[in-house]
Amino acid sequence: MPIGTNIQLAIELLNSNKLVAIPTETVYGLAANAFNKNAVLNIYKTKNRPQFNPLIIHSNNIERFEEWGLIIPQKVKLLAYKFWPGPLTFVIPANDKIPELVTAGTGAVAIRVPNHQVTLNLLSQLNFPLAAPSANPSGFISPTSALHVANQLGSKIDYILDGGVCKIGLESTIISFLENEPKVLRFGGLALEEIEGVLGHRLITNTSSGKIIAPGMLTKHYAPNHPLFLVDDIFKAIAGKDKRRVGVITFYQAFVDLPASNQFILSKNKDLNEAASNLFAIMRQIDELDLDIIYAEKLPNTGLGYAINDRLKRASIKE
Ligand code: TXA
Ligand code: MG
Repeated sequence: MPIGTNIQLAIELLNSNKLVAIPTETVYGLAANAFNKNAVLNIYKTKNRPQFNPLIIHSNNIERFEEWGLIIPQKVKLLAYKFWPGPLTFVIPANDKIPELVTAGTGAVAIRVPNHQVTLNLLSQLNFPLAAPSANPSGFISPTSALHVANQLGSKIDYILDGGVCKIGLESTIISFLENEPKVLRFGGLALEEIEGVLGHRLITNTSSGKIIAPGMLTKHYAPNHPLFLVDDIFKAIAGKDKRRVGVITFYQAFVDLPASNQFILSKNKDLNEAASNLFAIMRQIDELDLDIIYAEKLPNTGLGYAINDRLKRASIKE
């Protein structure tokens, strides 16, 4: 399996418009030269991703996006100064340099500087940005380790650059700056409270309708093989069930009457950041067990709790 830590090899492959999986602090990305249409097309094919779902482009600092002619709004500069490199993506107007395949014809492009030393080093040596969606087949859980990528896409990509386990473990928070007021397109690895603290005002979300407008968020996502239900009270949910056939994902507590092997605790310390970093690996592990049903506990809606609940909710949506 093509996993390794050879940055020079990754650079050569990317310069030849090949696909390389790259580590970031959020999740692994499936990267290619964003300025090359064939390379970008290959991303869509490899992920089996619908072409109406645009891609984030990544580079190592904000100035590079400006060098490529993108006009960065003042508020984006303010937030980037504070949170980049980091788990925050901005949607801004695109320009002619960005292929329509990257923007999915929306006229807007998503930009991010990821916070991972290996990938920052890589990006600084490339003369193009990397288009990189999460390195999973479309509709599945995002990978938070090189092995996760190898298990699902290993045979289809040229190289997996191993940068260890992703520290944040949830995809970036996405904010659109296309209208007067910034708008949240995806809850993610940076808590909204932190962003609001810098902006000095609340952000617009349209969670009341349950819909988020990043095109990729409209479809069923994070689909587990087992039926998964997001519940307020695990204790109530498992009452009367055959305990050997039930799996649970809980915030911090264990249940004495369930087999230990069926229980996955997100953070014994009740720490939402730790819970976020464990979530996707646990969703993969529990899905491999022979169970009838999985119950996941709703976390407090604060900090990264929003994003964790969002992912669990999407995992519980059935076609
Ligand atoms: O943390 C992350 O953001 C990771 C790492 C690799 O950077 N990337 C990631 O990419 O999660 P992806 O493609 O799995 O999710 C990107 C989301 C999609 O829901 C997509 O619809 C939205 O960003 N998006 C990308 N470009 C957009 C645009 N121009 N306008 C609106 N939404 C956009
Ligand atoms: Mg994704």
